[in-house]
Amino acid sequence: MAHEKFHYKSLEEVQEKAKELGVVLPFAKDTGILATPLTVDGVTFSNRLGIAPMEGADSLPDGSPSDYTLRRYVNEAIGGSSIIWFEAISIVEEGRSSKTQLLLTKDNLEQYKVFTAKIKEAGIKANGRAPYLIMQANHSGRYSNPDNKPAPMIAYRHPELEQYRDADDSCIVSDDYLKNLEEKFGEAALLAKEAGFDAIDIKSCHGYLLAELSSAYTRKGIYGGSYENRTRLYKNAIRAAKVYEDENFKVTSRLGIYDGYAYPYGFGVSENSGTTPDLSEPIRLVKELNQEMGIQFVNLTMGNPYATTHVTRPFDMGKYEVEEHPFIGLSRMIRGIGEVKKAVPEMTILASAPTYLRQYADLYSAGAVEQGLCDGMLFGRMAFADPDFANEIIKEGRINPKRVCMTCGKCGDLIRAHKPTGCVIRDTKTFLPFYREFQEISKSQPANFRG
Ligand SMILES: Cc1cc2nc3c(=O)[nH]c(=O)nc-3n(C[C@H](O)[C@H](O)[C@H](O)COP(=O)(O)O)c2cc1C
Repeated sequence: MAHEKFHYKSLEEVQEKAKELGVVLPFAKDTGILATPLTVDGVTFSNRLGIAPMEGADSLPDGSPSDYTLRRYVNEAIGGSSIIWFEAISIVEEGRSSKTQLLLTKDNLEQYKVFTAKIKEAGIKANGRAPYLIMQANHSGRYSNPDNKPAPMIAYRHPELEQYRDADDSCIVSDDYLKNLEEKFGEAALLAKEAGFDAIDIKSCHGYLLAELSSAYTRKGIYGGSYENRTRLYKNAIRAAKVYEDENFKVTSRLGIYDGYAYPYGFGVSENSGTTPDLSEPIRLVKELNQEMGIQFVNLTMGNPYATTHVTRPFDMGKYEVEEHPFIGLSRMIRGIGEVKKAVPEMTILASAPTYLRQYADLYSAGAVEQGLCDGMLFGRMAFADPDFANEIIKEGRINPKRVCMTCGKCGDLIRAHKPTGCVIRDTKTFLPFYREFQEISKSQPANFRG
């Protein structure tokens, strides 16, 4: 049975529904706190609003940004968020999620320099300041698809995920391959720095390679089994990137703290917790990132968008029917993030996934900051629908209800179809033609389109 769709006409109705479901979502009376600056590790973010990483599948064949990529990020820079957390950028060819996923190499470094300079310039011109640009470094692992054909590189056999992708033992990556990858993250950090990014995110979330390793309980060898082994590559990748850190270039991470799978196939659960989050290990990890590895800020997220999409981004329309009401998903996310923040208060934590709440996403984000559940919020799908959301909140006090994301899932369809991605509803002229192409393709190969 599907949950009822978003139909709430006031914040009171939203709160009433949450109460009926037995959850309390944090809402502030106004959005003032979101316009306040946040200083961390010598960097001052001018407000508490950021753009979440959103892959666009619109690179040129060599992995450099296209006009579509630039258009998207320039619009976001004009929109006033203090942080633009860039989409997943592959660090190796074989780990690309599609033929049109961004890939940063020595050969296309110059194009990236121009790209970041134009984005900063657009921010300065529109708002008198450049947004803080974070490159998300990724290896797609199980979801590697460099020629638009699945070429999975997995950490271990996962019974629940392999219903979507055929995978046999030959695609389990070797320890040697993983060892070699550690330094690739270091090389990516140097390239990101030279390309003009302000920071690099060593990404470990959403079922990609590093995140999958975090739940590789059943893997043998030095990257599987114990907590130390499962976090080995992640930590060594961070160490390799840290070599290039200085006052103008930081290392951060987008970390998945729960996948939506029971032990031994998910991170953020324990042997006896079933699919209910047990955040002991994520808390330990965030503490170690801060106290042992010198990471000062992170973004936290949950779920696997290919399989437990509703955990990552609660939605009204998507690839499958969800019984769970999206408010339960929102609560799981923000309460989970809040639990980590409470346990590691010295870490600056940016939260994720406010978009389902449409025009109330702003008061929700402000409430989350006011209640100490996080220090700021990254907006994902909302930024596709309305890249100006931050300026609306900061200058008008509220988000424009006519421009909000409807969580229709069409941007997700575009990315899985490897088409330039954006909001089909609010940016129709640009993205409806790509959506029509997707509809044509999916008629001929519907079964493969789960992503
Ligand atoms: C089309 C699309 C592309 C995405 N690409 C990325 C990505 O490259 N990296 C990442 O960490 N998350 C990615 N996400 C997840 C978002 O960053 C975000 O966590 C999610 O949409 C929930 O936030 P929201 O509710 O504000 O949309 C993507 C989501 C969508 C819909």
